[in-house]
Amino acid sequence: MKDFKRTLITSALPYANGPVHIGHLAGVYVPADIYARYLRLKGESVLFIGGSDEHGVPITIKAKKEGVTPQDIVDRYHGIIKKSFEEFGISFDVYSRTTSKMHHDTASEFFKTLYDKGEFVEKTSEQYYDEEAKQFLADRYITGTCPHCNNVGAYGDQCEACGTSLSPLDLIDPKSAISGSKPVLRETKHWYLPLDKHETWLRQWIVEDHKEWKTNVYGQCKSWLDMGLQPRAVSRDLDWGIPVPVPGAEGKVLYVWFDAPIGYISNTKELCEARPELGSWETWWKDESTRMLHFIGKDNIVFHCIVFPAMLKAEGSYILPDNVPSNEFLNLEGDKISTSRNWAVWLHEYLQDFPGKQDVLRYVLTANAPETKDNDFTWKDFQTRNNSELVAIFGNFVNRALVLTQKYFDGVVPVCGELTDYDQQTLKEFADVKQEVEKLLDVFKFRDAQKEAMNLARIGNKYLADTEPWKVSKTDMVRTATILHISLQIAANLAIAFEPFLPFAAEKLRSMLNLKTFNWNELGHIDLLKTGDKLGTPELLFEKIEDAEVEAQVQKLLDTKKANELANYKPNAVKELVSFDDFMKLDIRVAKVLECTKVPKADKLLQFKLDDGMGGRTILSGIAQSYPNPEELVGTQVCFIANFPTRKLKGIDSEGMILSAENSDGKLVLVSPSKLVTNGVNVG
Ligand code: MF3
Ligand code: ZN
Repeated sequence: MKDFKRTLITSALPYANGPVHIGHLAGVYVPADIYARYLRLKGESVLFIGGSDEHGVPITIKAKKEGVTPQDIVDRYHGIIKKSFEEFGISFDVYSRTTSKMHHDTASEFFKTLYDKGEFVEKTSEQYYDEEAKQFLADRYITGTCPHCNNVGAYGDQCEACGTSLSPLDLIDPKSAISGSKPVLRETKHWYLPLDKHETWLRQWIVEDHKEWKTNVYGQCKSWLDMGLQPRAVSRDLDWGIPVPVPGAEGKVLYVWFDAPIGYISNTKELCEARPELGSWETWWKDESTRMLHFIGKDNIVFHCIVFPAMLKAEGSYILPDNVPSNEFLNLEGDKISTSRNWAVWLHEYLQDFPGKQDVLRYVLTANAPETKDNDFTWKDFQTRNNSELVAIFGNFVNRALVLTQKYFDGVVPVCGELTDYDQQTLKEFADVKQEVEKLLDVFKFRDAQKEAMNLARIGNKYLADTEPWKVSKTDMVRTATILHISLQIAANLAIAFEPFLPFAAEKLRSMLNLKTFNWNELGHIDLLKTGDKLGTPELLFEKIEDAEVEAQVQKLLDTKKANELANYKPNAVKELVSFDDFMKLDIRVAKVLECTKVPKADKLLQFKLDDGMGGRTILSGIAQSYPNPEELVGTQVCFIANFPTRKLKGIDSEGMILSAENSDGKLVLVSPSKLVTNGVNVG
């Protein structure tokens, strides 16, 4: 690797149109934070840049729906998101926003520079315009009939029924999703970044010069390049965003994907202006000895590996990223995380249910990080990793070492006596951990790095279990002192090794050990604590999570699923018309249930004995699965068809048909009169 002097870490700016969830954390912010903390702990010069992405069409739509301004929306979510990140210890040096003045000026100037250099091409095209809402329509906000499968709810960019990607002009019977009116075609002018002109150097830079990029990133870039790059519009007809700063561009703003990545630059500027000791922002963005890294999710790859680098190159004075460590997606209990379906674990809600347990979530998300492929978060796994790793290994080891030192040595680091072979072997084992963790962190393998750090706790835990100081103390205090001395040194190493991964636990441990300095380069040393040092009060680092707690979370998700099913229920089309005479042919009546029992060897059937006001009858009905306790139905009234031919089912004569409604969840519900009526009366 080149000899860099400083590292600029950026993490994707989340859209400020909703709170953040575990997918965001696992995919982008936890890995970026681990890396930033690791470099800082090594004493390197590093900036970690974050912020909210506050432009784009979805924000305007949400505002319209709620009857508020887009600024209201982004103010609300910027606050919530920023707070979540702080609570989870994401150690941004700056967390700003793209509605800031600094950003508007920076993005505007950036556009102007490219414009003046002739780096854009201007093109006029016809686009759909909503005459009622008086605005051009983004592809997503035009619906119509799919020309391929006739789905009536296809979007202007894609038909979700058949998966075909579409252009708005393909839709039959287009409608504006904003006003419902029929949009008309209008000419409009936009500026395009001619990516095709950048293809040659991009190919060389990525495909030849950055073979070390993660395979998921490299592969996606290569396939984009192989398909051939097209010019991309960098402006939109919209009234929310940064106005295009050239004459004749009224009503046009910069496309959100043009301005957002410039947000990394604006936020660096804001930071460096506030803290001059960090040097000039330009050193961080323009000096070849700066290493720039973009942490992102997989849906952002093309923008960070192709579009933004092309923008930077076109400007001419900027460096390009050295690496773009992108993750794949995290699923939740087997399903894609989705904001609109509320299928997510929201960070602010997690903290309400698990206060103080930030590190547990960080740990589990890293252990399961979707680094090379999509991965799944389950509450069961969350509980297991907490109980059998954090509590049983890490917490247990640290607690025993500290409590025993308290008990036998009054909380003072005891003298290290002569080392046995086993002591030597243990020390040797943990001396390697530093190198192993580093090797993995350097190539962004965070899951494996954390696993390796956890090995240190395993070594300590095993050491205590094998040496049994609680027994040795009965006969040999010198040996007990040595064992605890070594254990405390391992605990001190754990505090350092875990600082990037579990910053809250590491800090607690540091203060319990009364460690002053905290430096990555000391990892592996066995003299972090000095004999005679006084320790702080031992506290538990982690607590067991009970079955009921995770079951409640699973139940919450099941409730969400249920609510979604009900909300998405689409009624069947109404059947063919019938005549009044046809209707009158049906003899529907009310009867009282006298007996109701399961039919042996038929898991769906219930046998009803009814008082039908005409001497009684038996009817079988296939609703057993919806009524697990059929005896409860005795005494209620039901409706049935009295002139249905008798059928034999399981050897029993069924004399009619009982009416029930099928709910959207598939459950059958018996239809009853809303007031008591005489048995045998007609329904009609
Ligand atoms: N807001 C985008 C998303 O959530 C990410 C923007 S990253 C930036 O997918 F580079 F454009 F800022
Ligand atoms: Zn279709």
